[in-house]
Amino acid sequence: MIDIKDLRKSFGDNHVLRGFNMTLFKGENLVIMGKSGSGKSVMIKCLIGLMAPDSGSINVMGKDVTRLDQDSLDELRTDVGFLFQGSALYDSMTVRENLEFPLRRHKKRFEGNLNAEKRVMEALGNVGLAHAVDLMPSELSGGMKRRVALARTLIMQPKIILYDEPTSGLDPITSKEIIELMRNIQRKYETSSLIITHDVDCARVISERMILLVDGINYAEGTFNELAKAKDQQIQAFFK
Ligand SMILES: Nc1ncnc2c1ncn2[C@@H]1O[C@H](COP(=O)(O)OP(=O)(O)OP(=O)(O)O)[C@@H](O)[C@H]1O
Ligand SMILES: [Mg+2]
Repeated sequence: MIDIKDLRKSFGDNHVLRGFNMTLFKGENLVIMGKSGSGKSVMIKCLIGLMAPDSGSINVMGKDVTRLDQDSLDELRTDVGFLFQGSALYDSMTVRENLEFPLRRHKKRFEGNLNAEKRVMEALGNVGLAHAVDLMPSELSGGMKRRVALARTLIMQPKIILYDEPTSGLDPITSKEIIELMRNIQRKYETSSLIITHDVDCARVISERMILLVDGINYAEGTFNELAKAKDQQIQAFFK
């Protein structure tokens, strides 16, 4: 689904990505872990064409993201759902309007069969928030906002979902609920997911494979159990 080769990105003297490689296979849950500031968000922004890398190739479902024009990027982004760090809801819109926004923007995708009301209620039902459809974001708790953001991503029925810190800022119980939702969605829609996190519990529960991002490269790869057993100090540091 995604293939990244030798990705490099610097900001002045700050060499953030120094030859990062990654492959996401169909239907899998791949977790990327890295310290704060290691370049996880930069990587994901390059991946969806929000940021241009200095060099390297990024292939998403057969398309080279670094060479797409704005229209093609827009089209690709309907297949690639992105859950931003934080939840990034529009504060001046109700929950319903937040969910309708991507639908209307990409009307073409639904070929005259937009059925907005049904899609909105189904997406909200998937995250257990049908009752919140007419609330404003300011009336939601942090966990509810995250779930609405997830519903807004799901409503486009993406083939790939990119999660940037899906559990950050949430208490352990709400984190567990979000992780459980992510797993249900995966099973129900057979999406392929890339999950960026520094939450070890999240990684343990959801990952089928993991990549550790250290010093701008894919420092180590393996299952959670393989990496948790590794002797290497840089790897151990993640699991302490
Ligand atoms: N637009 C930008 N301009 C300059 N520097 C940037 C920009 N975006 C990110 N950086 C720098 O790139 C580095 C990596 O940032 P990034 O946001 O990818 O970290 P992260 O791994 O996502 O961290 P966190 O876990 O805290 O979210 C940081 O040193 C940051 O200051
Ligand atoms: Mg980040």
